[in-house]
Amino acid sequence: MNERVDAIVRRLAASRKYSGLARSTLERIAVDAVRRHAKDADAEKAAKRRLHQVFGAYRAHDAAALARRVRELPPVDDRERFEAACRELLRMHASTAERVDDVEAFYRDVFAFTGAPRVVLDLACGHQPFQWPWMGLGPDALYLPRDLDAGLIEAVDVFLEHVGKPRSARVLDLLVDEPDADADVAFLLKVLPCLERQERGGALRVLRAVRARFVVVSFPLESLGGRDKGMRAQYGEWMARTADALGVVPQSFAFERELVFAWPTGR
Ligand SMILES: C[S@@+](CC[C@H](N)C(=O)[O-])C[C@H]1O[C@@H](n2cnc3c(N)ncnc32)[C@H](O)[C@@H]1O
Repeated sequence: MNERVDAIVRRLAASRKYSGLARSTLERIAVDAVRRHAKDADAEKAAKRRLHQVFGAYRAHDAAALARRVRELPPVDDRERFEAACRELLRMHASTAERVDDVEAFYRDVFAFTGAPRVVLDLACGHQPFQWPWMGLGPDALYLPRDLDAGLIEAVDVFLEHVGKPRSARVLDLLVDEPDADADVAFLLKVLPCLERQERGGALRVLRAVRARFVVVSFPLESLGGRDKGMRAQYGEWMARTADALGVVPQSFAFERELVFAWPTGR
């Protein structure tokens, strides 16, 4: 079994598409694929399909293109051009592309509920850090983005440096390692269904491990194909069950393309 896993991990790590992922992520996905499929070719195919669902499907670019765009950003004081360039970075990822029009209202409403955070932990951040101009974080605030995509995390660190913040992004696979910092607000935006697809019960397991005063989660209201498939009701019910299991009372926020919930954890 280990040899089969190693062989798949080696091939995935050598592929252009998945070489930027944490080794622990490739191993986790390969172990699961080998457990389900007796033939190596089927297991490798299944691993690739899962990786595509986990992160490949959202990206319209490769890591090098993203890094280039971030290095070429206009200076922050050239506000209009800088914000326009950040919006372009948001449009490069299907998930943040959906939030481009709501981005100001999103942070205004969420932080009005949680209070202005000093430490923000952004779990499975995707391109969310490029929303920094609209977050309105105070000058002393610490922003900690985490994702399993190492290429993205490198680009995010270059971005943070560009805006005068510390290089505080880290690679973290939420299904392998626990969140590594205490925070005032932890974001888990549009990732819970994706965690659940990777591991049944994974979303609740990760939510229990988050150490933050407030947790903010969200769900997409459109599938990647663009159709609403009763997602509002389905995710609303999932949230109600999960809130019961956690013993929390979430507040919901209505945005056109995203269903958002936030709750105090009592920490
Ligand atoms: C749908 S995107 C959401 C991104 C961002 N939070 C947003 O709202 O736009 C899902 C993100 O979760 C990341 N991801 C998926 N599984 C993960 C895991 N097990 N650990 C950490 N990040 C994960 C992917 O790399 C991708 O960036």
